[in-house]
Amino acid sequence: MTTLIINIKELLQVRDSSILKVSGAEMAILPTIKNAYLVIENGLISDFGLMDVLPNINPEKCIDANGKMVLPSWCDSHTHIVYAGNREQEFVDRINGLTYEEVANRGGGILNSAKKLNEASEDEIYDQSKNRLQEVMLLGTGAVEIKSGYGLSVDGELKMLRVIQRLAQNYPITIKATFLGAHAFPVEYKENHDGYIDLIINEMLPEIAKNKLAHYIDAFCETGYFTVAETEQIMEAGILFGLKPKIHVNQFNSIGGIQAAVKYNALSVDHLEIMKPEDIEALKNTEIMPVALPSCSYFLSIPYTPAREMIAAGLPLALATDYNPGSTPSGNMNFVVATACIKMKMTPEEAINAATLNGAYAMGISETNGSITVGKKANLIITKPIPSYYQLPYAFGSNLIDTVVLEGEVFA
Ligand code: NIG
Ligand code: FE
Repeated sequence: MTTLIINIKELLQVRDSSILKVSGAEMAILPTIKNAYLVIENGLISDFGLMDVLPNINPEKCIDANGKMVLPSWCDSHTHIVYAGNREQEFVDRINGLTYEEVANRGGGILNSAKKLNEASEDEIYDQSKNRLQEVMLLGTGAVEIKSGYGLSVDGELKMLRVIQRLAQNYPITIKATFLGAHAFPVEYKENHDGYIDLIINEMLPEIAKNKLAHYIDAFCETGYFTVAETEQIMEAGILFGLKPKIHVNQFNSIGGIQAAVKYNALSVDHLEIMKPEDIEALKNTEIMPVALPSCSYFLSIPYTPAREMIAAGLPLALATDYNPGSTPSGNMNFVVATACIKMKMTPEEAINAATLNGAYAMGISETNGSITVGKKANLIITKPIPSYYQLPYAFGSNLIDTVVLEGEVFA
């Protein structure tokens, strides 16, 4: 099956296959082709270039993108979209003055979601989660990482990971699964951390590895959650089972999680709202992708990741949603890109690089996703007619997506 897209006003994020991420000053450059065509064959990008040199081909399908932009689908490298119910009450409690921490200390937060998850059936969780997945696909996301972490029991964690696997089988979107058993300590292990870590390492991990239910391992390294030493234990065990770490660090406190992630060669470090100079220093000359989650900062009214300082230090940066019931009940990557520009002072070029190519890198798929490159998946956003790509972050509340193409097929 061959599909041809013609008259593309501007084709964004055109890259050679050797570029798997962009860092520092490179992030300011977004290579594009104006007045372009693009050819899709069997779900992959097979050719693109200037309309002036459009080859003579006979496609089964032709899309005229007159006045419209084409860019790679968003790559959302950090989500928790598999969950049960919601936490609307906590949202209102925070409006009325409680902090996220106070809500959690009263038995709310992650433990509240864990209770709901363990009470729900696998089918109920699947149905709720598939609605969220469909929603983000319509918003232009073409690859997504999904974490477990609301089970906090052997059965609950496996149930979540099976739901993620089922979503991956049933939808034309690239999904990477991350095991986040170390999201919080369940109430019964509050005074027995070693007991819960033992459960993660000796009961959950072997079962997950045996059934190939996860690609990555995560832990919430934070005061009141997992200490640096506990996080190191989890990373070490995950690596033994073939799971590379992607770690929640520096959301509320800088406690040394980044240095631990560097030691264990993590794929990404995520959140980074609180960054000390030594944290930025530790990430220099590593292959780790820092990931910022601006809609979490927005929703919780906490600081934004200091993107300017990090980019000035030569680091790469990816952007993701963190879609979850507690700190970010939104999976809209368009809002993430806009908020990164508006609140973190990233340029549109930097934000688009961070939400496509660098996002793909942060989930280990930048050889197949994240840019307009011959041989990569034809996961594309075709915008409505817009004056320039600045419009994407500028018109922050508008839906500027006209067509979503996933694996070469029009999804919506
Ligand atoms: O990434 N910080 C830890 N985990 C999630 C929030 C979890 C929740 O509140 O349910 C996050 O923000
Ligand atoms: Fe998260």
